[in-house]
Amino acid sequence: MNANRLAPSTLETPMKIVVESGSPTPQVESLVADAFGPDRFAKAVYRLRDGVDAEASLSLVAIDKGKVVGTLRFWPVEIAGQVPALLLGPLVTCPERQGEGIGSKLMHEGLARAAAQGHRIVVLVGDEPYYRRFGFHRALARRLELPGWVDPARFLARELAAGALAGVGGMIGRPAGAEREQKAGRAA
Ligand SMILES: CC(C)(COP(=O)(O)OP(=O)(O)OC[C@H]1O[C@@H](n2cnc3c(N)ncnc32)[C@H](O)[C@@H]1OP(=O)(O)O)[C@@H](O)C(=O)NCCC(=O)NCCS
Repeated sequence: MNANRLAPSTLETPMKIVVESGSPTPQVESLVADAFGPDRFAKAVYRLRDGVDAEASLSLVAIDKGKVVGTLRFWPVEIAGQVPALLLGPLVTCPERQGEGIGSKLMHEGLARAAAQGHRIVVLVGDEPYYRRFGFHRALARRLELPGWVDPARFLARELAAGALAGVGGMIGRPAGAEREQKAGRAA
């Protein structure tokens, strides 16, 4: 078949997962805002994100025909002030494309990239019936705590390296560098 004779829409590249370049795009922000609403800023996990940049190399977007159809980010955190980990989320697929596997593709790509970069522990707050297919379990988070109330059944963890959570417990907080930067900002 002569590709030059195909209709323009069929010549478009298929949906792809790419690293979000530069600062967050308005398309990504509105996808997240539409999914979680203004109440999202009051959630415990947002306290951990406040004043901290998402891991740029793990900020993924799903793009189809030039439109952002999904997003996944990870944030650096520390357990008990000493064990580095990643906080996964938000994960969003635009409503009209849900159920097509976009969320799964973002999850598999994000977790593979995180493991390849040497990250060992990932935590999240979300529905275990969805996230357990990616290796997240309530039991792995049982010795961990979050600053603020979350439904315990939705607080999940996953090891990217076998045994990474063995003997690890305590409060999850923002990375030490972020605390220092914010204090310096306040003092300035
Ligand atoms: C959750 C979400 C990201 C999934 O994205 P998606 O692209 O539709 O996911 P996939 O197509 O890879 O997977 C769809 C499957 O997950 C299931 N699923 C979706 N949300 C689920 C949930 N909360 N609990 C259990 N299963 C869920 C679907 O039923 C479907 O099952 P099937 O494969 O057996 O048919 C998407 O529904 C979304 O953006 N929701 C709104 C924002 C949100 O809640 N994000 C998660 C924060 S906890």
